[in-house]
Amino acid sequence: MTRTRLDAHIAALDAPEGLKTVLTVVAATCADISKVVAGGALAGALGASGQINVQDEEQKKLDVMTNDMLTEALLASPAVAGVASEEMDEVQPASNPAGDYLVLFDPLDGSSNIDINAPVGTIVSVLKSTTATPTEADFMQPGRNQVAALYAVYGPQTMLVLTTGAGVKGFTLSNDGDWILTHDDISISPDTREFAINMSNLRHWAEPVQTYVGDLLKGEEGPRAKNFNMRWVAAMVADVHRILMRGGVFLYPWDRREPNKPGKLRLMYEGNPMAFLVEQAGGKATTDGRQAILDVQPEHLHQRIPVALGSANEIDAYAGV
Ligand code: AHG
Ligand code: MN
Ligand code: MN
Ligand code: MN
Repeated sequence: MTRTRLDAHIAALDAPEGLKTVLTVVAATCADISKVVAGGALAGALGASGQINVQDEEQKKLDVMTNDMLTEALLASPAVAGVASEEMDEVQPASNPAGDYLVLFDPLDGSSNIDINAPVGTIVSVLKSTTATPTEADFMQPGRNQVAALYAVYGPQTMLVLTTGAGVKGFTLSNDGDWILTHDDISISPDTREFAINMSNLRHWAEPVQTYVGDLLKGEEGPRAKNFNMRWVAAMVADVHRILMRGGVFLYPWDRREPNKPGKLRLMYEGNPMAFLVEQAGGKATTDGRQAILDVQPEHLHQRIPVALGSANEIDAYAGV
């Protein structure tokens, strides 16, 4: 059986050449990152870097390595006008800006997993640039404007899951280093019996979130009238991948610990690209069950938001609490 390769899929897209170039560069870099991740201690990929990032997080060595790999590869491409990342304070315009695209990324998602050999990922969002010399203001576009979003998950299999606005496709990295189409037309079941939330934060959540999760935990005797299972990988990529594969809901709500931060996850590098993928797979991606993440007008590059995404009927139930 002949299988479709990612490069053939990209070549056949009804999309500008510049976008095809961006996707090709990102896919090649994610394949390179997968080698570093797989090398672990042998590749010098474990442990802390000793630096703090703009998110006030201690950077892992791999956060820095993957950020450098993506930044260098993308800024070397004539299709790219500028990049922004979870790991960089400021946006980086290309030095000879001629490209049409802005690329935003979380180079290593779930970085607390790397030292324990659990899944990590890379998340990428692509916007059209409105100018050849972009500043931060040009990146402040709602997620609805994205022309592509993808993630790579470095797990038992390395996979790349992509949308360009016409459904969601999954590619598996072969031993020969090729991305092969293995999951055509990924869709999220509207109903589920599985939820993902960091339960250790329960006492910090707002009342409606406590009520909703409490209802799930009541199982068949509760208002949802069914038993729920819980999973939490602590890497959004892996949790969202599970939801794309077998349904579920993922919640990272606001909590009281940091009253001035609306949530933990970042709108531009995590919320928007994942929301685009989830909506394209027939799921819902919201801040609170109602407000679509893709319609949020960004105000700051590193803005955080609450996230509630996944199986459509369960997100509606969350909104109804
Ligand atoms: P990152 O490693 O890019 O900073 O993201 C970590 C995020 C996300 O991947 C995950 O869902 C969440 O943080 C885990 O948070 P907890 O530490 O509360 O489990
Ligand atoms: Mn981080
Ligand atoms: Mn992340
Ligand atoms: Mn990260």
